[in-house]
Amino acid sequence: MADFKKASRTELVHGGTKRSQWGELSEAIFLTQGFAYDSAEQAEARFIKTEADEYIYARYGNPTVAMFEERIALLEGAEDAFATASGMAAVSGALTAMLKAGDRVVAARALFGSCLYVLETILTRFGVEVVFVDGADMTQWEEALAPGAELVFFESMSNPTLELVDVEAVAKLAHAKGAKVVVDNVFSTPVYSRAIEQGADVVVYSATKHIDGQGRTLGGVILGSREIIRGVIEPYMKHTGGSMSPFTAWVMLKGLETIDLRVRAQTASAEAIAKAVIPHPKVTRVSYPGLESHPQHDLAQRQLGAGGTMVAFEIEGGKEAAFRFCNALKVILISNNLGDAKSIATHPATTTHQRLSPEQRAGLGIGDGLIRLSVGIEATEDLVADIQQALDES
Ligand SMILES: Cc1ncc(COP(=O)(O)O)c(C=O)c1O
Repeated sequence: MADFKKASRTELVHGGTKRSQWGELSEAIFLTQGFAYDSAEQAEARFIKTEADEYIYARYGNPTVAMFEERIALLEGAEDAFATASGMAAVSGALTAMLKAGDRVVAARALFGSCLYVLETILTRFGVEVVFVDGADMTQWEEALAPGAELVFFESMSNPTLELVDVEAVAKLAHAKGAKVVVDNVFSTPVYSRAIEQGADVVVYSATKHIDGQGRTLGGVILGSREIIRGVIEPYMKHTGGSMSPFTAWVMLKGLETIDLRVRAQTASAEAIAKAVIPHPKVTRVSYPGLESHPQHDLAQRQLGAGGTMVAFEIEGGKEAAFRFCNALKVILISNNLGDAKSIATHPATTTHQRLSPEQRAGLGIGDGLIRLSVGIEATEDLVADIQQALDES
């Protein structure tokens, strides 16, 4: 993509802003479902063709939502974006809008549970064939794509084991077969993502995570070329009801103003934590793509230029030791959200990935002693000290 460009911090503060006649400094929340027309003729004309900055009904579009869409598209380096009610509205909307009965999907196996449900249970009910591969194994991608496919789907960094999929390499294979590439980029974050430049046709985010970044609202976004977003995604989303609310869009706009600062601070702490826990005798394995010891460190550097805001590590002693660790934390909270300003510890085996069988969990590297840490913006030394003392107690 020759004109690929990501937003600067200046554009994250100012990009996409539309001011009303009052000249408000902070973006306005247009908390309205409908819009009044000057005349019946204007209403008719707008239903025939809605131009930029013209609105009909909030399920179709809203000025505050449009500001958020423009700003996040600038950050991702995408031509356009459609904002959705949640991350899952973005994932299910993108997949359903782009697929039809008889199509074939090749997906990475390591997926967030709800994404897995959409692929395995819902899409197959409508006659879509879904094949799963180990996302880090290029031979498996090659074999699964050999018979052809219409769509490829994967999380660019997997939840919770932080395994990367090579966006550029998989996109090359997929495009050779005419398949479109849809990337769930939550763990990579829009700050580090270059997925569009690396070949993704569509990028989806749960905006609930780093984009809001302060645990307030549920939201999502689908990004891609204008042709896909306005020609394929928008008609599906506006008629099926998964649009973002104006209030949520306003919260997300505010989140975008600070996302670069937050995510870079979170990443610096994540790296410090990963390095600090390695020598602890109770820690048997640390996964952080920013560490040279991570098997995909080079790919993480090439793809993102950073290790991200998440750290995963295994504590000796299984579930009991992991629970002792969580319960001993004093600053870090036990929860299952991620990308938040507050640091969060999750025990995937008993929460987010509880519904998988022990064999499935083992296959994905989710042991009973595994802790997934979403690193927040608290003082790094407080987080390191909290983890050290909780490990001593585990
Ligand atoms: C990788 C990934 N995709 C999608 C989602 C769904 O996002 P939401 O909870 O905003 O619907 C999540 C939520 O945790 C996620 O981790």
